[in-house]
Amino acid sequence: MKDASPDRVFIFDTTLRDGEQSPGFHLDSNSKLRIARQLEKLGVDVIEAGFPISSPGDFEACRRIAREIRGATVTALARAVREDIDAVWGAIKEAEDPQIHIVLSVSDVHINRKLGMTRDEVLKRGAEAVAYARSLCENVQYSPEDAGRADPDYLVETVETMIAAGANVINIPDTTGYCLPYEFGELVRRVINEARGSERALFSVHCHNDLGLAVANTLAALSAGARRVECTINGIGERAGNTSLEEVVMLLRVRQAKLGLECGVNTTEITRTSRLVSELTGTPVQPNKAVVGANAFAHASGIHQDGVLKDRLNYEIMKPEDVGLSDSKIVLTARSGRHAFHHRLNRLGITLVDAPADAAWQRFLQLADTKKEVTDEDLRKIAAMSETTNGHEGNGHPPVTDQLHDHNHVADTLRHLIFG
Ligand code: KIV
Ligand code: ZN
Repeated sequence: MKDASPDRVFIFDTTLRDGEQSPGFHLDSNSKLRIARQLEKLGVDVIEAGFPISSPGDFEACRRIAREIRGATVTALARAVREDIDAVWGAIKEAEDPQIHIVLSVSDVHINRKLGMTRDEVLKRGAEAVAYARSLCENVQYSPEDAGRADPDYLVETVETMIAAGANVINIPDTTGYCLPYEFGELVRRVINEARGSERALFSVHCHNDLGLAVANTLAALSAGARRVECTINGIGERAGNTSLEEVVMLLRVRQAKLGLECGVNTTEITRTSRLVSELTGTPVQPNKAVVGANAFAHASGIHQDGVLKDRLNYEIMKPEDVGLSDSKIVLTARSGRHAFHHRLNRLGITLVDAPADAAWQRFLQLADTKKEVTDEDLRKIAAMSETTNGHEGNGHPPVTDQLHDHNHVADTLRHLIFG
């Protein structure tokens, strides 16, 4: 990995560990394996399969993933104790490219209030754990937990100690999602520049989204020289979640000219992966979620629909096909315009002009005010009702607004006509 192009960003997916450990997201071994297979298709560089010491089921899930997955590094998490490290190694040693991931706190808050240790004791324990892990596995990652709130000098000392002990990947976590992008970028830059031996390590980051800054902090770290990103599908993870894989990957792709960075993810598998994770965790994706939300490529207002129908570039910065969708969506609502209305009718093979078109448009507006979305089925019925309308005078079909006096009556009548 260290020989890769300096512009290459490695994608470390922790959906099955940090994502899965959040409340309501539990996955059994079969579900974890299904997601791991999909992550393999997606082309991530590293799959963090779980936390093997936590339960026999998770140990087994990690082992099945390590045995089967090819083309990606498989890692699992250990605290800085032999029992955890042995469990990780037992679970992942059959992987094509195994990695042991060790976590131990670095902030004074954690050292004093969680571990009840001194800084020196933490350094010693971390270095011993890394050296032990290296005696088992060539590839060892060290994560100084809560680095975002740590004393930068002590963080630098920790990083150089762990590199000297044998860690070849250093992952800087903003565990509590506390940092501002420029602060986090500065912290990562400082560690890379100041820690002795940093040229022998790959620098990674792991950001949480408590203040909605996980992707921004990740980007700042990439600008500062980090080249590995820890992230999850749909941004799931502890509390407000982790850096969202789909957001960071599409950011690299859409703004490639500006950022000059690239990764190996096959973006056309993004939607399929997102849906699988949502289905297996039983947790829907929020509709306005960037890249994978149901509305991410949907246009509802008349002004936007008109613009998109003239040229997608007007309102779309990425193509739906690039994330594995067949097309963007024009949603017909009470805020839609005639352009979208006729466009959709045309796609259904219906062309209305003059009076029937006007009558249909009026009927559409009246119905649209009564429901969230007007469907193709509604449109077919509206068109059928309007096709016989030839003009506003003397044709046996007075304009719909004259037939139906007040709004509620209009709505009720239409509902009755359409739904029976
Ligand atoms: O948030 C965190 O610090 C973690 C570590 C294990 C990287 O999840
Ligand atoms: Zn985390």
